[in-house]
Amino acid sequence: ATTLGSAAAAKSRYFGTAAAAYKFSDAVYTGILDREFTMVTPENEMKWDATEPSQNSFSYSSADTIVARAKANGQRVRGHALAWHQQQPGWTSSLSGTALRNAMVNHITNVATHYQGQLYAWDVVNEAFSDNGDGSRRSSNLQNTGNDWIEVAFRTARAADPSAKLCYNDYNTDGVNAKSTGVYTMVKDFLARGVPIDCVGFQSHINSASPLPSDYQANLQRFADLGVEVQITELDIAGSGTAQATTYANVVKACLAVTKCTGITVWGIRDSDSWRSGDTPLLFDNNGNPKQAYDAVIAAF
Ligand code: XIL
Repeated sequence: ATTLGSAAAAKSRYFGTAAAAYKFSDAVYTGILDREFTMVTPENEMKWDATEPSQNSFSYSSADTIVARAKANGQRVRGHALAWHQQQPGWTSSLSGTALRNAMVNHITNVATHYQGQLYAWDVVNEAFSDNGDGSRRSSNLQNTGNDWIEVAFRTARAADPSAKLCYNDYNTDGVNAKSTGVYTMVKDFLARGVPIDCVGFQSHINSASPLPSDYQANLQRFADLGVEVQITELDIAGSGTAQATTYANVVKACLAVTKCTGITVWGIRDSDSWRSGDTPLLFDNNGNPKQAYDAVIAAF
């Protein structure tokens, strides 16, 4: 039978989902996970607060469970995320400047070394650009350590795990806009200066079932034209029915039209698994049955 993973594989793409280790006792959940998906992103288990709850004391058991389970099922893993202004452990709030920078580097070195050779890609830096419409960096404790924090994060990740693709990941970068252009300018600069970067992730949390930005594909293409891979990393689309299904299909078509778009990940399995409470943005209903959007995704491949 056709699955999301096999449909994508027929076009040399992967189809992934975010997964949460605490749900692995749910047989409906794991049944869909194992059947449909060829890539897995730990939804929270690799974040800074989960992996380094006390400074320089690392905790990998939940993330290891996901990685081991994926491996046993022939699925690959996207690591998410090494450096981010959210979901930091409490102890980082008392650090700044060189101490925080050193803590970030130590974190990245430890986590990327722990998973060395086991991951398809890392979201090295997540959500570092502002939504204020001028393409600037987001203000954060990490940004306050110096504008070079992102390239330091990428160089540190490369040194620790030379085989993982290193991605920059963000939201509201789905069309050509000031924020995506800020990211584009950074990627171009990194490539020109030899800062290691292999891919850009577009979260694609789409807030309306109505059409995507009309330049969604063109935006993916302009990044691909720089020489990096592009991936849809956290896809979910508000709404239901035909409007939602059509937008899902259009995301697939845009990825297929961009040679360097290597795969699509949805941010959860059933609507009830979504972080967007009160919405129904995923491909399976609360009972685990495929929705119209699921059929549209399969058909679009
Ligand atoms: C979300 C998870 O889905 C939730 O379980 C958690 O409470 C908060 O984070 N952008 C990201 C993801 O990069 O890590 C976020 O995941 C959703 C927004």
